[in-house]
Parts: sequence; C-alpha cells; structure tokens
Amino acid sequence: MAAGGSSVLRAGMVGLGMIFDETYRPFFERAHVEGLWDRRFGALDIELSAVGTRTGKRAAAYKKSAGKNIADFKNFSGEQALEQLVATDVDLVCVATPDDRHFDSARKALEAGKHVIIEKPSVLSLRELDELVKLAHEKGVLAKVVYHKLLDPDHKKLRTLVADGVLTHINNGYCSLLEPKSISGSQFAEWITGRNPGTYVAVHYIKLIDFTFGGRLKTVTATGQRGLVGPKDGPTWDSVQMRMIYEHADGREAAYDIHTSWVTPNNFPGYVEQEVQFRFDNGVWNGHSRKRGVELTVEDRTPNELKTTINTHYNGTFLEPWEARSQRGYGIEVIERFVREVAYVEKGGPAADRADRLKEMRSLAYNDLAADRQVVAAVQALEAILEEAAQGHPDAVVSYDAETNKLTLSRPGNSQVRVLHPGQ
Ligand SMILES: NC(=O)c1ccc[n+]([C@@H]2O[C@H](COP(=O)([O-])OP(=O)(O)OC[C@H]3O[C@@H](n4cnc5c(N)ncnc54)[C@H](O)[C@@H]3O)[C@@H](O)[C@H]2O)c1
Repeated sequence: MAAGGSSVLRAGMVGLGMIFDETYRPFFERAHVEGLWDRRFGALDIELSAVGTRTGKRAAAYKKSAGKNIADFKNFSGEQALEQLVATDVDLVCVATPDDRHFDSARKALEAGKHVIIEKPSVLSLRELDELVKLAHEKGVLAKVVYHKLLDPDHKKLRTLVADGVLTHINNGYCSLLEPKSISGSQFAEWITGRNPGTYVAVHYIKLIDFTFGGRLKTVTATGQRGLVGPKDGPTWDSVQMRMIYEHADGREAAYDIHTSWVTPNNFPGYVEQEVQFRFDNGVWNGHSRKRGVELTVEDRTPNELKTTINTHYNGTFLEPWEARSQRGYGIEVIERFVREVAYVEKGGPAADRADRLKEMRSLAYNDLAADRQVVAAVQALEAILEEAAQGHPDAVVSYDAETNKLTLSRPGNSQVRVLHPGQ
C-alpha cells in the first residue's frame, strides 16, 4: 500500500457480534459523520466498506437499522466471506470472531496486505503469533490487538505511578473478572464448547500485568470448575483460576492470581465484576472497575435490564451537555487509536518516509502483536493445562523461557515434558 493518495481509509469488519455492537459500531458511526483529523494526516473520511460473517443476517439487519449512519458496506457471508472481503480495496481489517477463530481471518487479511487489528486474545499459540508477526513484516503493514483495559484511566494512573517510581517493585497481586451467566448460556452458545472464561477474560489482566510491570514470565499453573455450562468432566469450563510467576531484572519474583467465571448470576448488580489488588515494596493498589462511585436503582429495571453499579468509563451512552447523543469510553477510544495509527502510516507524510512511520507505530508495545508474546505464552499455557485436566491429568505446570521462546508442560508423576512451543 502506498502512502499518500485520497483522504479516505476503508475498513473491513470480520464478525458482527456483541463486541462489534459495543465498540466498533459506535466508532464507525461517529467516524462516518465526523471523519478523523490530525495535523499530520489532515482530514480523513473513515468508511466501514465491507463486513464478513458466517450467515450475513446480522449484517443485513444492522445495515437496515443504521441507515444513513453508516456507509453502504458490502455484506459477505459463508465460506468465502473472508477471501471476498480481503479482495476489496479495504485498507484495514478488524477481526472480532470467536477467540479460537482469530488466526485464520488475521492471516488472510495480512496476506492480502491489509493492516489488521484483532480482538483479545490475539491468538491462542506462539506458533500462530510468530506467523502473523512475520507476515506483517513481509507485507509492510501493522498487526495489532485490542486491549482496552490499558486505556482505562485507573490503569493508566497505576502505570504512571509505576513508571515514575512512586510505586516500586511489585511482589504479588490478584485480579478477578466475573461475567454473567447470560454470556456462557446464550451469547456464546454457538462457540462455548471446549472454551473457558480464562482465555476469554483473564487475558485482559495478563496484558495489564505484562505491560505495566514487565519482567519475564516463568511459570503458569491453573485449575477450574465444570458442571454448569457443560458436563463436569468435559472440556468446557465454568470458572478458572490461574497463577503466573514472573521474574524481575534483579532476580526477585512476582506472583499473580487471576480468577475468572462466566456463570455469575444474571441479576448481579453490575454487568461485569472486575477487581484488582497489587502489592509493592512500598505500597498497595486496590482497584474496582465497577464500584467507582455510581449506584443506580430503578424500580422493576435494576439489576437486570439496567445495572446497579455501572461502568460509564468503558462504554456509555450519554446525553451530552450540548444536547447531542453520544456513545463513548475507553472501549471505543482504543479502536480509534488503531485507525489513527494506520492513518499516520499511510497518510502522515511523504511516501518515502512510510517505513519510518510504520516502524514508529510498530514500536507501540501496548497493542503491537510482536509485543504480545508473553501474553500469548500464558494463554497457550492455560489452554494446555485445562486440556490436560479435561483428559484426567490435572495440576500440570507450564514453564516459559523468555530468552528462547520455549514453552513446556510438565505433569506431576510424569517425567516426560511436553513441548508446547519449541522456541528458537
Ligand atoms: N474487548 C473486550 O472486552 C471484548 C468483549 C467481548 C468480546 N471480545 C472478543 O471479541 C471476539 C468476539 O466476541 P463477541 O462477544 O463479539 O462474540 P459473538 O459471538 O457475539 O460474535 C461473533 C461474531 O463472529 C461471527 N463469526 C463466527 N465465526 C466466524 C468466522 N469463521 N468467520 C466470520 N465471522 C464469524 C459471528 O457470525 C458473529 O457475528 C472474541 O474474541 C471476544 O474475546 C472482546
């Protein structure tokens, strides 16, 4: 793709489910009306020009309901949807399919020379990660992943205090993220078999920890419970508890426990329960994303249809003081950031300097796929440990060698080590 050209960026969207509706849709609708502006790339039209889904029904319904709020996008569905989408003139592709279907779509889009952003968890194995990173380099495009919790003002403050040396040397911490039963029971019913809430949401905190505190990932252990979403001895998990051990540059260690569930009662006062506690040599950080001060009661409507404690920072619908209706929050901001990064690479200066701009945008560790290595290693470890447990071999331990990129799994009472990723 050459820098310069007309002042429009065209986007393709793969998967039109819950997260599209919450974050991509409001971004594309606002950008459709307002465009994007930056001193470096000027005024830019942003067009959602093609979407690809399994059946095309949601896309057709969305097109009808959105009307003039969105461009007249092409609606591809079925087996060849991806191939058809990447054959169009889209500049960037957003991948928001179920967790275990990201890789294929991302690979095809990168092969076609499109910039790509993938929903979390980026991919489920280091092999897939290596392949996508290599492809992005060969094709001279960006390959990024969405971790919107890094843009949560509370997490930005935490990172600022760490970066400025106010909070020093983390020793340990815990995080919990609990989803309502409706997620596992109906929203994801089509792809829930064999899946677990750890990969789905612990990954938010794995990234927060990895990005904010740094260090080398050493080991991962995990356990979980079954019997509600699927059979008690099957491969589908209700709740998962994982532990990661990191090593700091000075040789001291840090341990993190992350608890997740997608069987929390639907009448829970908040939509998603998110809590963290991090303990440092000289301090403690306690954070709760739901209890930030709002408590709402509406007769007959809370806590089911409306929630009691709402996270208005992630993604809220508002009547602005200037009377306009809006939908905004860090969940939407993170998508806009990516589109701005693509715009900067393609339109932010002379074509001769595109490689420098690409390099600059790739160096952003918060969303670049190449910087997602330890997160993917932890996710692959978690998946392998749960798979072993489902086969009757609980309590496996996965070790990661950050230097060689080698990932291995050991089982208690078994001297054989299973190589999950051979590394260099
Ligand atoms: N950032 C966040 O906080 C957040 C929140 C929710 C979901 N997610 C992530 O977004 C992704 C999608 O989740 P969701 O909640 O939107 O799921 P969903 O089940 O609501 O929607 C999935 C969409 O993908 C489509 N799809 C499925 N397989 C496909 C394929 N092979 N090719 C093309 N389209 C396909 C479906 O038709 C549907 O439109 C997941 O990876 C999930 O982890 C992120």
